[in-house]
Amino acid sequence: ARVFVPADSGALSVGAEQVARAILAEAEQRREPVTLVRNGSRGLYWLEPMVEVETRAGRIAYGPVRAEDVPDLFAAGFLSGHSHRLGHGLTDHIPYLAGQERLTFARVGLSEPLNLADYCEQGGFVGLRRALEMPPDALIREVTDSGLRGRGGAGFPTGVKWSTVGKAVAATKYVVCNADEGDSGTFSDRMLMEGDPYCLIEGMIIAARAVGAQEGYIYSRSEYPHAFAILASAIQRAREAGYLGPDILGTGQAFDLEVRLGAGAYICGEETSMLESLEGRRGLVRFKPPLPAISGLFGQPTVINNVMSLASVPVILAKGSAFYRDYGVGRSQGTLPFQLAGNIRHGGLVEKAFGLTLNELLYDYGGGSASGRPIRAVQVGGPLGAYLPESRFDVPLDYEAYSRIDAMIGHGGIVAFDDRVDMAKMARYAMEFCAIESCGKCTPCRIGSQRGVEIIDRIVAGRERSKNLILLDSLCDTMVNGSLCALGGMAPYPVRSALQHFPADFGIDTSGIA
Ligand code: NAI
Ligand code: SF4
Repeated sequence: ARVFVPADSGALSVGAEQVARAILAEAEQRREPVTLVRNGSRGLYWLEPMVEVETRAGRIAYGPVRAEDVPDLFAAGFLSGHSHRLGHGLTDHIPYLAGQERLTFARVGLSEPLNLADYCEQGGFVGLRRALEMPPDALIREVTDSGLRGRGGAGFPTGVKWSTVGKAVAATKYVVCNADEGDSGTFSDRMLMEGDPYCLIEGMIIAARAVGAQEGYIYSRSEYPHAFAILASAIQRAREAGYLGPDILGTGQAFDLEVRLGAGAYICGEETSMLESLEGRRGLVRFKPPLPAISGLFGQPTVINNVMSLASVPVILAKGSAFYRDYGVGRSQGTLPFQLAGNIRHGGLVEKAFGLTLNELLYDYGGGSASGRPIRAVQVGGPLGAYLPESRFDVPLDYEAYSRIDAMIGHGGIVAFDDRVDMAKMARYAMEFCAIESCGKCTPCRIGSQRGVEIIDRIVAGRERSKNLILLDSLCDTMVNGSLCALGGMAPYPVRSALQHFPADFGIDTSGIA
């Protein structure tokens, strides 16, 4: 029987390696033939390590499996898909998965990530082959028409960015993939790089073809050693198979790729400091303009896209822009892989079309809080995203609807907190985070975040509260309007939303206010 045990680092962190070894040992002892496949994760992290067995009816899931459960699973006949207390039936029928719209994550977790033949069999490189037959401007139009917007957080239209780079005249152009996934509670980039690396590579080759770039870099964070190793092997195999190199699939198109590791600074996820880091310098934010699209890596026109943006491109090319655009609402088209984290029962990856609500994500998918207590606040969009109270849980997740409530979807990270959270502490943490991670180039962020921590401390301690509240408001204005990049510019969002929605946590008495 074919048995799947993920080698995704999320699964490894909860014992997948021991489970894989136990399965092989038990199979040998029982003389039952087992072919072990180390797939990526299906994204149902609360079930990891999730073991699947291939049967005639489809793949049957068991989880979370510990090494000590393995003898019992064998005894129950799990190799034939028999029921067991850890069984969940057909994987594809598990409501968490069945309800999703997986376009970008269609293949993740299905097979061994480095298996190139499996990739091709599952629709891989169909988009690339079509792209190689299209003139670059038609290719850019296709991506523009799909409505794809930057999935790293800012939501800038990908096709428009490509068109700027495409029009720039230069001997050398670059495609850089921002894989410095630093937002709290996010893991979609990592999951895709570990589970379907060729998808990202394919997206980057298509981007290179569109803009006329010859070289590419994937800038990954140092905390992702598994993703790094898998990408490095995937690049090598893709090159050997003719998908990378001086003459891609005999078309005369040249493009090659390298993966680089950051050194642990959050700010290196900001595109210009990432370029500094790639060039071998300290990650200090650059002034814009010039945009990287005009003068980026080594001063050359550079496409910089997040992993999710680039990994969404193959399916857009394979199925056409209209197919992709039909998902979503308004100007938020396509799907977003949301990541459920924090105090949530069913943490994991949920790819859905834009327009669903936090209520659906938190309760239909997430199953409520892990602690069983009421969910009081949710931070959407990373450490610089707003804290939302229950009264906002029904706002559709679309870029514009979120910006109307002073929130942002960002990279799709959803972190839940139950009713024991102290929102004044969370607000303080936002300022402290900004102070620690600040690159130091501009004053509102470097100094402002330090002062922000102190002011919040005074408010909570009840020292000259109304005066300090006015001061904090003015400081937040200065940071939003005067910071050079989004770190200082967005740190006030969690602070202000916490104050607005949870004033009691700051010791502010609102009982007299209508
Ligand atoms: P931005 O709004 O300055 O720019 C968005 C992108 O569009 C940039 O790549 C910019 O170079 C490009 N661009 C703008 N006009 C262009 C034009 N005419 N032609 C071509 N390209 C053009 O946003 P920024 O500062 O790059 O990113 C901020 C966002 O990053 C925030 O919204 C935040 O959500 C997100 N973020 C994501 C993190 C993660 O781990 N994924 C971590 C921290 C922040
Ligand atoms: Fe650097 Fe902060 Fe200014 Fe950004 S806002 S450039 S991180 S000091």
